[in-house]
Amino acid sequence: MSGALETYVETCAAVVEPERTAEVLRLLKKRGVLNRRFRIVRREGFILIPVTDPIEASRLGLRVTKTRLPLNYRGLTFKDLLVERIPEEVLNRIPRSFDIIGDIALIELSPEDAKIYGKIIAEAIMKLHPNIKSVYARGRTLGLERVRELMHIGGEKRTTTVHREYGLKIFVDIARVYFNPSLAEEHRRIATYVKDGELILDMFAGTGPFSLHIASIRKATVISIDVNPRAIECLRVSIMLNKLRGDLHPLVADSSYVASMFLSQFDRVIMNLPQNSLNFLSQALEITKRNAYIYLYTIAPSCSDAVKMLQSTISKISVDKKVKVENCVRILPYSPRRYIYRINLCTV
Ligand SMILES: C[S@@+](CC[C@H](N)C(=O)[O-])C[C@H]1O[C@@H](n2cnc3c(N)ncnc32)[C@H](O)[C@@H]1O
Repeated sequence: MSGALETYVETCAAVVEPERTAEVLRLLKKRGVLNRRFRIVRREGFILIPVTDPIEASRLGLRVTKTRLPLNYRGLTFKDLLVERIPEEVLNRIPRSFDIIGDIALIELSPEDAKIYGKIIAEAIMKLHPNIKSVYARGRTLGLERVRELMHIGGEKRTTTVHREYGLKIFVDIARVYFNPSLAEEHRRIATYVKDGELILDMFAGTGPFSLHIASIRKATVISIDVNPRAIECLRVSIMLNKLRGDLHPLVADSSYVASMFLSQFDRVIMNLPQNSLNFLSQALEITKRNAYIYLYTIAPSCSDAVKMLQSTISKISVDKKVKVENCVRILPYSPRRYIYRINLCTV
């Protein structure tokens, strides 16, 4: 690999005639002194092989020199490629990891860092991950529709992609809909709870990952509601991209009004709107059967706080059904000392 982003660092190398390369490599590997952090290069008619121990290499009869060699990309992170290219204090504050949605990378950067260093950060990410075709800096998640602020920093200027979870294809427009690739396991787990023949409501479906997972493994009927028409458009594309066993019905609507449409019918309701799901609990209770399950996501410092908030909400709503808290599971960090929890509720 070569190019503008090659990073050269000083190290020791054995200077070898080209015809002896294979023999010397075998020898250095056997002695455990081949330095895999660097790449082997040809320079001025010789082959330079990086070594970890110059004394041991000299004992083998090899000529050893100090030189600058390019770092080997295998085992490196994109931040290693940025050493000596951006100031250390900037390097320290940019995150080590980034999200990948389909072939698009999303990295959390301040608007200033994105403007000044975005291009070089994007190049480093794409250099190490050739499958990534486009890189965006992301800011806060905004509004009712939970869409991210984005700034294009490298690669193709495209916001649509097909993301894969457990072989499922999920069409996403990162500029217009919410999508969190860290929830893949959670999407699958909920789907495994569902039984063939059940009726499910995905109350805040977004691009429909919960709905798609369910319909891909169960002969269930899923109603997927979202107030964001772009999210439902994405879900409609995904329905065409996948072979589904179940029936999926996407609907652009405000879930506050669903209770009047479907009284006491659902076997399970998924409430994945952690910032606000408790405000929809009375509607969810009205539309579920007895012995049905509600998966409610909420934000709290601990499980016991989450359950207390839930119980306080239940005490204020009047529905003719009782609910039992089955369990509470921590799903993801949300902010310092606050987490997203899933509370599994059962109607009685
Ligand atoms: C946190 S996202 C969850 C998306 C999806 N369940 C997922 O896992 O990717 C919440 C979604 O709820 C939708 N939403 C917010 N308020 C709503 C409402 N009153 N009725 C229906 N959908 C709503 C937003 O548009 C957003 O797509």
